Amino acid sequence: MSERRGFPTKFNLGDRWFDFRNRLLASPRFQRWAVSFPLTRPIARHRATALFDLCAGFVYSQVLQACVHLRLFEALRDGPLSRIQLTADLALPADAASRLLAAAAALRLLEHRTGDRFGLGPLGAAMLGNSGVTAMIEHHALLYADLRDPVGLLRGERLCTGVGRLWPYAASARPADLGMDDVADYTTLMSASQPLVAADVLDAYPMDRHRCLLDLGGGDGTFLIQVAATASSLRLMLFDLPAVTETARRRLDKAGLTERALTFGGDFRRDPLPRHADIISLIRVIHDHNDEAALAILTTAWQALPEGGTLLIAEPMAGTPNAGGMEAYFAFYLLAMGSGRPRRTEEISTLLHTAGFTRVRPVPTRRPMLVRVLVASK
Ligand SMILES: C[S@@+](CC[C@H](N)C(=O)[O-])C[C@H]1O[C@@H](n2cnc3c(N)ncnc32)[C@H](O)[C@@H]1O
Repeated sequence: MSERRGFPTKFNLGDRWFDFRNRLLASPRFQRWAVSFPLTRPIARHRATALFDLCAGFVYSQVLQACVHLRLFEALRDGPLSRIQLTADLALPADAASRLLAAAAALRLLEHRTGDRFGLGPLGAAMLGNSGVTAMIEHHALLYADLRDPVGLLRGERLCTGVGRLWPYAASARPADLGMDDVADYTTLMSASQPLVAADVLDAYPMDRHRCLLDLGGGDGTFLIQVAATASSLRLMLFDLPAVTETARRRLDKAGLTERALTFGGDFRRDPLPRHADIISLIRVIHDHNDEAALAILTTAWQALPEGGTLLIAEPMAGTPNAGGMEAYFAFYLLAMGSGRPRRTEEISTLLHTAGFTRVRPVPTRRPMLVRVLVASK
C-alpha cells in the first residue's frame, strides 16, 4: 500500500509490472538503447511513430479538410494531372499548391507519379467511393473549432458549440418543437452517411424474417428505403421529430413507398410509439443520449413491442477491438454536441435489461469500427 496525495493506493502485481515498464519507457537512456538495439528497434520506431501521429493528427485532418474543400479528389477522378494543371485548378499560389500536393502524397491521399503528375493514392481513391465520408469531413470544421480548447470543453465552460448548434435536439428540453430549419442540416448529413451503415446492418441482420419494422429516430427514411429493397413484404414505420418526418414522408413517397411506409412525429423520450411493429430499430440513436434519456427511449420501445418482439441497436460502440480511435472520436464529438457518449456493449445490455428486455445478444458486423449490432427480445 502506498499513498498519493493523501489517498491510499493499492499496488498489485500487475501494477508493479506496469510501473516498472513505464519507468523504463520514460527513461531517455532506455529510449536511446531501444532504438539502437536491432531487436527492439522496430518496436521503438513503431511507438515513436504512434506518438508522433497523436501529436500531428490534427494537422493530418486539416490536410484532408483542404483536399475535400478544394475538391482535389474529384479533380483526379479520371486520372493523374500535372502539377501545373492542378495548381491552376486549385486556384492556389504555386508554392502553396505544391505544399498541399506533397502533404497529401505523404499521407497516401495522393501519389506522385512520373512526369511530375499527381494521381489518387489508396486513401484518396477510397474517399471518392463514399460521399458520406466527404460530408462528414466537411462538417468537421465545426468540431475542430469546438476542440480548440479541449480542457474548457471538458470543464463545461463552452456553453455554445458549433456541433451543438448543428444537433439542436441534444440540448433541447422540447425537441419536438424544432422547426425544419433547425433539423435540415443534420438530417442531410445523416442521410449522406447512412448507406454505408445500412448495408452493414442489413448484411448482419436481414429484416425479411419480420412482419413490420419501426425505425425509431429514423431520420429522413434513408435506412427504411434500403430495408425496403431487401425485404419486399415488410411493412415500414418511422418515428422521429415532427420536422424530420416531413422530410422523411417526402423521401419515402418519392421512393415509391407511400403505401408501405407510415411516418409518425413526436418525442421518443415521452410520447407513446405506434404499436404493431414486431421489430424496432435504433440506428445511431442511443449514443446521442445520456443514460436517463437512453433508458426512457428503450422503455418506450419495450412498451410498444408485442411479447417476443425484437429490438435492434446499431451504432459504433466503445471497447471495440482495434477501434480505439473511433471511441476517442465519439467521446469528444458527443461532448461537443452536448449529450451522449459511446457505450460498451455491456453498458447497453444493462440499459436493455433495466428497460425489461431479455436475451441481449451481439450480431457480428463486417466493420465493427463503423457499426456494431445488439439485438434483444421482449
Ligand atoms: C444521429 S441521428 C440518426 C438518424 C438515423 N437513424 C441514421 O442513422 O441516419 C438521430 C435521430 O434521432 C432523432 N431524434 C433525436 N431526439 C429525438 C426525440 N426526442 N424524439 C424523436 N426523435 C429524435 C433525430 O431527429 C435524428 O433523426
